[in-house]
Amino acid sequence: MRIFLIVVLYKIFYGVIIMTKLRRSLLTLTIAGFTFFSMQNAFAADSEYTTKSGKKPVPAEELAKANDIQIQAKNEQFAEKYPKQYNSWYKTSESTEATPAIEEDPRMIVLWGGYLFSHEYNKPRGHFYTVTDVRNILRTGAPRSDKDGPMPMSCWTCKGPDVPRLIAKWGEKEYFSGKWFKAGSEIVNSVGCADCHDTRSKEFAEGKPSLNIARPHVLRALEVIGQDFDKLDRDGKRTAVCANCHVEYYFDPKAVNNVVFPWFNGTDVDSMEKYYDDIKFKDWTHSISKAPMLKAQHPDFEIWSMGMHGKNGVTCIDCHMPKVKGADGKVYTDHQIGNPFDAFESTCANCHDQSKEKLQAIVKSRKHDVQESRIKLEDQLVKAHFEAKKAWEVGATEEEMKEALQAIRHAQWRWDYSAASHGGHMHAPDVLLKVISSGLDRVADARSALAVVLTKHGVELPIQIPNIDTAEQAWKAMGIDIEKQRAKKAAFLKEVIPQWNKKALENGLIDTLPPAK
Ligand code: HEC
Ligand code: HEC
Ligand code: HEC
Ligand code: HEC
Repeated sequence: MRIFLIVVLYKIFYGVIIMTKLRRSLLTLTIAGFTFFSMQNAFAADSEYTTKSGKKPVPAEELAKANDIQIQAKNEQFAEKYPKQYNSWYKTSESTEATPAIEEDPRMIVLWGGYLFSHEYNKPRGHFYTVTDVRNILRTGAPRSDKDGPMPMSCWTCKGPDVPRLIAKWGEKEYFSGKWFKAGSEIVNSVGCADCHDTRSKEFAEGKPSLNIARPHVLRALEVIGQDFDKLDRDGKRTAVCANCHVEYYFDPKAVNNVVFPWFNGTDVDSMEKYYDDIKFKDWTHSISKAPMLKAQHPDFEIWSMGMHGKNGVTCIDCHMPKVKGADGKVYTDHQIGNPFDAFESTCANCHDQSKEKLQAIVKSRKHDVQESRIKLEDQLVKAHFEAKKAWEVGATEEEMKEALQAIRHAQWRWDYSAASHGGHMHAPDVLLKVISSGLDRVADARSALAVVLTKHGVELPIQIPNIDTAEQAWKAMGIDIEKQRAKKAAFLKEVIPQWNKKALENGLIDTLPPAK
């Protein structure tokens, strides 16, 4: 009760200082109106499956058209007018460490067999590096033309304000169509001002936030869960801007591989799984088990909303973008999004009496507990994939394998949902533990079904599982030639990136290049 009062007082206090009324921007109005119209049509047109919300993804021809709205994507242009916000935003460059995740835990190489995540996957770092990291990661390959390469355009979509700029200029259909290479010299500013603000509005010119969502697919997804952005209160908008990117999504193969959030039945793990099952969607087919797999992305918004803070109206901003006092004595929003413990006095301590050490110890122990059970699930999944491989080798039929493969799909989706949200152990540890235990349940289903198939085909259990103690061993076991991938990437970085940079500079899209590393 006491904490609740503090929260309310804290919000009222800052609400008055900063401002509470946010006006609609022309862009959101146009898009929201258009979206509403297209949703109705999509629903009427397709009746193969029904969703809880009654809504469905829009078909290609109904994606938003180009318009004449100019999105100001160049972050540097706001440095002079808003030095405190700009400089604190720039400090996200201080979070340089991108811990390689699969080298730390080679089981993931097996779990993502046949999918490029098994080549490279790193933990997140500062927003300043979004463009750098998507260029450098092995997952985007080494394309030499817009006909070439493993990734579609959609892969740029959470990297920065050039994305809404291009969507406005080209229309959604043209933006999402084609390969990742297509926008290499266009998407050059990392996550920044125009991703979260309507920088052309009168309010923004007056120093007010004018929070804004300029990606039509995000406005559509929020509508599906009953959150019309323009009608949200200040807290709703503050979290919604993070939901631009920190969410689960997929690329819709029925349209133009455009980004869609699978929230049509709800945002919890079961609802999204049901949706994917109903539309018979898979991200890829596993290279050894042949299971139809789902890749969970980073459902931070979804998991936060189910956690203790989300339920109590404590927003991402309260912890990740606190209000601080500038040298001039005026309060502003700290734009150095990172670990809230680094700014303890202006984050947790606003609402909690406990010491930093105490709260940090609580979070650490939760992280440990979540990690421990997640690894148990990984171990089981590794065995299931190899058991399925063996079953195929000894002549199991598709019909015999069906039940086991579906259970592997579900179990790994649950594992990934819990692993891909990096702050999940803080945002909602209880939710993660529940998701993981349901995953353990499903992997047990998979392995008992596989035991029946293997025994029927005369295989003695347990089967031999290759040694995957190191990443090198795991790549070898999965038939991945990592050195070849690395060499191709190095040549791409040396030969293609300078051309992209040159063009972006010539076109005035940036003044300084994205960092090379
Ligand atoms: C990831 C989202 C995000 C990005 C990127 C972002 N902002 Fe903000 N900004 C916010 C939020 C959230 C607030 C606070 C809103 C509130 O308190 O209701 C804010 C507040 C502001 C304000 C209002 C005054 C204040 O300090 O509260 C200004 C001005 C501002 N930002 C400028 C910028 C500039 C300039 C950039 C680019 C260098 C930028 N912002 C990048 C989310 C963002
Ligand atoms: C336009 C997309 C986008 C928006 C909007 C966005 N993020 Fe991010 N965020 C990313 C990406 C991409 C990364 C990973 C960057 C990397 O590793 O290169 C990231 C990384 C992070 C990290 C890790 C930072 C670190 O130093 O380790 C945190 C924390 C974070 N975001 C929180 C937020 C919050 C809170 C909001 C809303 C205020 C937000 N983000 C809005 C795309 C976005
Ligand atoms: C009550 C405070 C709080 C709220 C609310 C909160 N976070 Fe966090 N978040 C944290 C803390 C603390 C960590 C770091 C946990 C740790 O140190 O292990 C974190 C970690 C993260 C990370 C992982 C960063 C990394 O480098 O691994 C991301 C991404 C993130 N949060 C995004 C969000 C988004 C998006 C929201 C809103 C939907 C949100 N957070 C709401 C406190 C919060
Ligand atoms: C704006 C206020 C606010 C901020 C900021 C805030 N909290 Fe909380 N916190 C709450 C509220 C409200 C609850 C729920 C209290 C209750 O009902 O017991 C809560 C509960 C908790 C709990 C116990 C509930 C659980 O998850 O089991 C922990 C632990 C916690 N917060 C840690 C943190 C940490 C760490 C930070 C900073 C990274 C932080 N909080 C920031 C308001 C806040």
